[in-house]
Amino acid sequence: MYYQLGLIGYPIQHSLSPWIHETFLQRTDQKGNYSLIEIDPKMSFASEVETLRERNLHGFNVTVPYKEKIIPYLQDIDDQAKQIGAVNTVLCKNGKWIGYNTDGIGYVRSLQHHYPELKKDKGKQILILGAGGAAKGIYAALLKDDFHQITIANRTVEKAKALLMNQHSDVNDKAITIKEAEKTITQYDVIIQTTSVGMKPNETETIVSLQTLKENVIVSDIVYQPLYTSFLQKAQSFGARIHLGHTMLLYQAQYAFEIWTNQTPNVERMDEELQKKLEG
Ligand code: ATR
Repeated sequence: MYYQLGLIGYPIQHSLSPWIHETFLQRTDQKGNYSLIEIDPKMSFASEVETLRERNLHGFNVTVPYKEKIIPYLQDIDDQAKQIGAVNTVLCKNGKWIGYNTDGIGYVRSLQHHYPELKKDKGKQILILGAGGAAKGIYAALLKDDFHQITIANRTVEKAKALLMNQHSDVNDKAITIKEAEKTITQYDVIIQTTSVGMKPNETETIVSLQTLKENVIVSDIVYQPLYTSFLQKAQSFGARIHLGHTMLLYQAQYAFEIWTNQTPNVERMDEELQKKLEG
């Protein structure tokens, strides 16, 4: 079997996905390639999709701005992707395109890999900061993994409420404002920052202040440019254990690769290499 894989999106020239997936192919002793298929938003997406079908890929990833736009072209969609309303992985099987979303599940895998205690204790108090696309995927994956004490804080609290309403939320889950999150910050075991606050070029910004943290708290930031965000640096200085955003890239890719090839590649040591690549 020779796997023909790829990525659609725009702009994607700097994507690290070819490196990740070609490393996975090597590590699982399989042959194939992963190509970057840039689709200019000025072109007709429908006709670009037709050309894509003719390439007879085994599977492909989907990134900005096509994660929602691809949905009408799929013959099937899995529950997570349907719930989130966005697809980042397509499996092409027997002439059918099946959509998945591996972002949230990849994120939770990465968190549990670094903090294995989270594989067992699903009663941890979790705070998600933000209620955008990234938060949606992470929340859906945490629910799927049976976490049942989740609070979503957002500047626009209505969006956090809508997120709870639109998913199969647990009765204990809550929607609050960022200000309320700041006041209650001491009660959480895991804090997950999913907004773009702190991303280059605004790297001095932090979304909430973190002074009174619970002992042993885990603080995670999905921003990975810079890798050590101000948010994580502050968390660390107050004694928190931290979780870096770039590891999500590896684990969402690992899950996509499983969907395409039925093999789970070992991601060991790729973390450090990815870090070096991101730091240029
Ligand atoms: P993504 O898909 O990356 O999650 P998004 O869907 O645009 O991006 O969501 C962005 C999130 O970051 C939202 O939760 C947004 O809060 P609002 O819903 O109130 O807009 C949050 N966000 C962005 N900039 C922010 C800021 N300066 N302060 C607080 N929250 C911010």
